[in-house]
Amino acid sequence: MKIAFSNPAEVNTGVVVAGVLEGRKLMPSAAALDKKSGGALSRAMKASRFEGKKNQSLTVMTPSGSKLDRILLIGFGKAKDVTALDAEKVGGLIYATLSSVGARAVTVLVDALEGGDLKPMETAVHIGYGARLRSYRFDKYRTKGKTEEKPSLKSIKIQCPHSAKARREFSNLDKVADGVFMTRDLVSEPSNILHPETLAGRARELTKLGVKVEVLGEARMKKLGMGALLGVGQGSIRESQLVVMQWNGASKSGRRGKADAPIAFIGKGVTFDTGGISLKPSGGMEDMKWDMGGAGVVIGLMKALAGRKAKVNVVGVVGLVENMPGGNAQRPGDIVTSMSGQTIEVLNTDAEGRLVLADALHYTNDRFKPKFMVNLATLTGAIIISLGDQFAGLFSNDDKLSERLSDAGTAVEEKVWRFPLTDEYDKMLRSDAADMKNISGGRGAGSITAAQFLKRFVGKTPWAHLDIAGVTWSKKDAPTVPKGGTAFGVRLLDRLVADHYEHR
Ligand code: BES
Ligand code: MN
Ligand code: ZN
Repeated sequence: MKIAFSNPAEVNTGVVVAGVLEGRKLMPSAAALDKKSGGALSRAMKASRFEGKKNQSLTVMTPSGSKLDRILLIGFGKAKDVTALDAEKVGGLIYATLSSVGARAVTVLVDALEGGDLKPMETAVHIGYGARLRSYRFDKYRTKGKTEEKPSLKSIKIQCPHSAKARREFSNLDKVADGVFMTRDLVSEPSNILHPETLAGRARELTKLGVKVEVLGEARMKKLGMGALLGVGQGSIRESQLVVMQWNGASKSGRRGKADAPIAFIGKGVTFDTGGISLKPSGGMEDMKWDMGGAGVVIGLMKALAGRKAKVNVVGVVGLVENMPGGNAQRPGDIVTSMSGQTIEVLNTDAEGRLVLADALHYTNDRFKPKFMVNLATLTGAIIISLGDQFAGLFSNDDKLSERLSDAGTAVEEKVWRFPLTDEYDKMLRSDAADMKNISGGRGAGSITAAQFLKRFVGKTPWAHLDIAGVTWSKKDAPTVPKGGTAFGVRLLDRLVADHYEHR
């Protein structure tokens, strides 16, 4: 879809969108259209429930004499309350509404929000971003779709003052959307197509953007002593992989520069989680194709950061395995030695994500000595019981990092909720036979004990773990997130980086 910005000018053809404030207050562009159409908009509003509230829209077919196809009125609510996020939702609503009725091109007229904080140029940029985010589709495997079921909208022209500046600002957000789309693509891909090697291949494509990409196979990982990660993958015919991505965007000039310690993002990449010998029940097991969601976010985030040439040194590390039962699969009771030297008694082969991350976290910390590490993982079903699909679980050994993550999450509406970590929870991982076991054995605090397990592999480095099992896949459309893979985490972490870790 093409999204373009231009300065205000008269529009005489096609579909036009204009804004209305709560209380059916037509914004200036809408008022002008109303006048031109002999009051058709006011009449249509009065004949409907449309009041100009947030998330409301009203389609008006234009009267004879007008060359416009239709006018779409969009509610902005109260001018003083409108945020960038609201503008994004408006963009998403415009896209969804017009795409289902057959419109091909639309012009959006953006006015000033009297008494509000958001400048019209900013409103315009975020409308464009929201529309782009909503336009995502995963339809590469549909060979028989009817044209009337396909989205029709191909072009959005947004009119606002300072359109050249809008275009520049939009191009940054557009790169973030590219990262979001890559993550959604990866998460949606079925596991017969996406297994560790093919996923590593997709990460390798980032080389084109200037990201340095290394792929370690099983032989390398064995030499490094990654017994925890390798144990998970040993039942699969697919080779496990560890992908290391580096984007060194911090500027050479200035006090800090290329030599700056990087920040690090680590992802769980289980391309399919059958549970292994501790086999999962069959109902809903297809969901386990997106058990690589954490890795998908890290890869998409690297794409976003490199795409917008973020001034930061960052490494992304993803541990890629397929968790399968089989003649060579890991057995409950097996004891593995992780790269850190710590031994683990694997009492449940379905608690595999923490085993993968144990080695990925230790490797990242050991090799890069990062300023901090944030890992993402679809780690526990228990986090879905706790938080549903509204928040990701946040676990951390560092208050400052936690706060920054919470703030970034609020800003982009990818919300996180912090859980406690304590020695008492840690003790639940004591094993009779090894340094630790990979499950607590009890029924309580499943997400916390999983996080305590990870904490044993991060040393003293500031670290946070985001359990994204409840937010990685969505069953219903939201304004800027169509159902399916959400890419939750890409926008959040891009925002974290932009707000705190980029050189100016
Ligand atoms: N990948 C799952 C967690 C999961 C469940 C993600 C549902 C998304 C939706 C993870 O590997 C797992 O199986 N966790 C177990 C841990 C248990 C064996 C301690 C769980 O949550 O049941
Ligand atoms: Mn599992
Ligand atoms: Zn899993």
